[in-house]
Amino acid sequence: MSTQPPAGARPTVRAADETDRTALAGLLRSAGLPLDGLDEAWRTVVAVVPAGTAAAPVVVGGAALERHGCGSDTALLLRSVVVAPPWRGTGTGARLVRHLLDGAASTAAPQAPVALLTETAGDWFGRLGFRVVAREDLPTALSASVQVASACPASAVAMLRARDTGGAATLPSP
Ligand SMILES: CC(C)(COP(=O)(O)OP(=O)(O)OC[C@H]1O[C@@H](n2cnc3c(N)ncnc32)[C@H](O)[C@@H]1OP(=O)(O)O)[C@@H](O)C(=O)NCCC(=O)NCCS
Repeated sequence: MSTQPPAGARPTVRAADETDRTALAGLLRSAGLPLDGLDEAWRTVVAVVPAGTAAAPVVVGGAALERHGCGSDTALLLRSVVVAPPWRGTGTGARLVRHLLDGAASTAAPQAPVALLTETAGDWFGRLGFRVVAREDLPTALSASVQVASACPASAVAMLRARDTGGAATLPSP
């Protein structure tokens, strides 16, 4: 599924396609993250490295954004952020998130808030500008998400990030 990173290797981040599905699902299962609703995600990206002597490139990470609601009620849910263990700590996870956020900023929902639920990486998402909020303070539109409604346990922490602000500057205190 994954390879040891050669010194200085930098995966390419690109939109996921059908051929990435199995690899991405494997990474998520290995990390204990839910796959529920992933096929309906608005955008999914993967981090890919050349496979060396093998024919196909290797997926070493992924992340997805769900889009819910419409108009001024539109909200985005960041989910399924995962990096294969050998590639962790190389900036790949941050690049995946940035790629999704930059892509969303240039679409029809540039001002939509971005939220997430996590049990394991609250401090890491905090570095990316997300702040902890009460679960009931998540945007109402996200109640349509399978992740929010049922896939993530009640113990998962809710986090929210304002768009195009660099993070916490315009967010209320947790
Ligand atoms: C969380 C995750 C995506 C980070 O990916 P990554 O590519 O290692 O992240 P980056 O390389 O951009 O950042 C690495 C830094 O974040 C820190 N970090 C990594 N995971 C962390 C976590 N769960 N909590 C707090 N800090 C974390 C590392 O210690 C490192 O710190 P340093 O820069 O001071 O050395 C990856 O660890 C992972 O796949 N974890 C399992 C799945 C998961 O928990 N996903 C999030 C829930 S949706």
